[in-house]
Amino acid sequence: MTLTLGEFSMLDISGIKRLQFDVLVIGAGGAGLSAAISASQEKDIRVGLICKSLLGKAHTVMAEGGMAAALGNVDNRDDWKIHFRDTMRGGKMLNNWKMAEIHAKNAPKRVRELEHWGAVFDRTKDGLINQRNFGGHRYPRLAHVGDRTGLEMIRTLQDHGIHQGIDIQMECTALDILKDKSGKVSGIVCMYRETGEFIVFETKTLIFATGGAGKSWEVTSNSWEYTGDGYGMAYEAGAELIDMEFNQFHPTGMVWPPSVKGILVTEGVRGEGGILKNSEGKRFMFDYIPEKFANETADTEEEAARWLQGDKDARRPPELLTRDVVARAINTEVKAGRGSVHGGAYLDIATQRSAEDIKRKLPSMYHQFKVLAELDITKEPMEVGPTCHYFMGGIKVDAETSMTNVDGLFACGEAAGGMHGANRLGGNSLSDLLVFGNVSGVEASKYARKLKSIPKSDDEDIKRIIKSATSILNREKGNNPYLIHEDLQKNMQYNVGIIRTKDEIVDGISKIDDLKSQFKDVKAAGTSQFNPGWHEALALRNLLISSEAVAKSALLREESRGAHTREDFPSERKEWLEYNIINKKGKGGKMETIKEKRSNPDPELQRIANSSIEDLDKEVKLDHKK
Ligand code: FUM
Repeated sequence: MTLTLGEFSMLDISGIKRLQFDVLVIGAGGAGLSAAISASQEKDIRVGLICKSLLGKAHTVMAEGGMAAALGNVDNRDDWKIHFRDTMRGGKMLNNWKMAEIHAKNAPKRVRELEHWGAVFDRTKDGLINQRNFGGHRYPRLAHVGDRTGLEMIRTLQDHGIHQGIDIQMECTALDILKDKSGKVSGIVCMYRETGEFIVFETKTLIFATGGAGKSWEVTSNSWEYTGDGYGMAYEAGAELIDMEFNQFHPTGMVWPPSVKGILVTEGVRGEGGILKNSEGKRFMFDYIPEKFANETADTEEEAARWLQGDKDARRPPELLTRDVVARAINTEVKAGRGSVHGGAYLDIATQRSAEDIKRKLPSMYHQFKVLAELDITKEPMEVGPTCHYFMGGIKVDAETSMTNVDGLFACGEAAGGMHGANRLGGNSLSDLLVFGNVSGVEASKYARKLKSIPKSDDEDIKRIIKSATSILNREKGNNPYLIHEDLQKNMQYNVGIIRTKDEIVDGISKIDDLKSQFKDVKAAGTSQFNPGWHEALALRNLLISSEAVAKSALLREESRGAHTREDFPSERKEWLEYNIINKKGKGGKMETIKEKRSNPDPELQRIANSSIEDLDKEVKLDHKK
């Protein structure tokens, strides 16, 4: 049903199109495709998949360097225990322990499954899946194909998924969740972007694989789709958002030319030996090695060079410290006046690897800089700087089922929070979305099977959702959605950016309040047929909810941990390790931001995470002999 101007006040939804499913997945990146595939492997489960964009276009492709899994193909000392320890340490111990365990244990199986489904990987001499080094991973652990791993994952999952009978709806925007009288998920109202037609999907379960909200910031690796739709809809439906203050700024985004600022430069460049220098030609990362990582990081150029030559006893170069550390270091160098010509740092692979190696291992980077910056990375250094890349926080889910506190609502991938704690290791995202995409698909099917029929939605809720969407078109005049979005991005960039202070965050929150008021009167000109201004306005509600949750959580967490850096509280504070921060919709409709005590971890997991690397290496050696 296409609503035209004036029709909304007489809303009659009797003719609206309705489709029914047992499991409906929202989002068709790696997590959504994995979830839909797993659910559709269950007998007699009707599975649908909705994507806002065209199938295959997802932020998953921006995880270029690889997927982390302790396969041990390149270094057989690797094991799930070491992967788990690295993940917890990278997340500054704030990760959901159980999720990190499930992830590390299951990642190898899921990567092999992907291989079985036809994914192409770079190979070792023995024909095994090749694995590369990445920040924070003790051993070469990232299964990869050049620097196009996310793309290959999407291609494989898509190909596999469409042969499983999944019903796919493209260019379809989800607006809001429907629930029955008891609070169970009963459906979702969506809109086809091309025609403006509304549709109601009646479903027993929803799996949100909607990615993050990187479009809240000005400089981001995210494309237009990443507007926090899952966070906004889940929040409105009563789900909780966890640890939204942890926003990952990937250290290396392009900084020049301005038209491409923020586009990702894969960590694979550093994994292949790339080094960072400032305007004085100094390899500055040696000055930023945190105490905790000192015994695992090379502190001289000589040792780092030995590591590059393959010396297994040499420690990793400091460029492979975790992303939070590298991003802050670049930021500090720039602020101290030692930045590159266009305000970043120099990333040099040209002096470290042959032109042939660079083109073979980093073909996309070679092409990207040639085409977008007229620069040959086999000859010259790149200019790079931090870019908003990933949300560690997200919708709070149960570790073992991926279900939220709303019955029938599941979340996985970047949309879900908890797995990565305060900072995600590169490469852990692709394996996360395979592992938890699978968990949520299986668990949602189980849940759906238990329900005799689809819970009943209330037509008044459907009308309310449609009216709220169409009022943006139908009001006489109002505020420009593009300007509100632009102001929000500036505000988040400057007030809730990579380094934060109380005063800036408070300013940021007050600006968000102001933008929320402006949003009440947002107006898109034109009709409902393919109307980008309307789509922009619809996304704004979710961007604003996500940004408010980020800013309020950032204000409450009075410490610096992982990706959340408070200049006024410069170090980790022990007492804060005991808390997650939760955002939920309060009774009066206002956002409530509270500290929630974390439950005690399993003592065995705690032992593994706190073991010294030497002891754990010995333990794993014995395990492998058994
Ligand atoms: O740098 C990269 O290739 C990104 C990987 C990731 O975010 O996991």
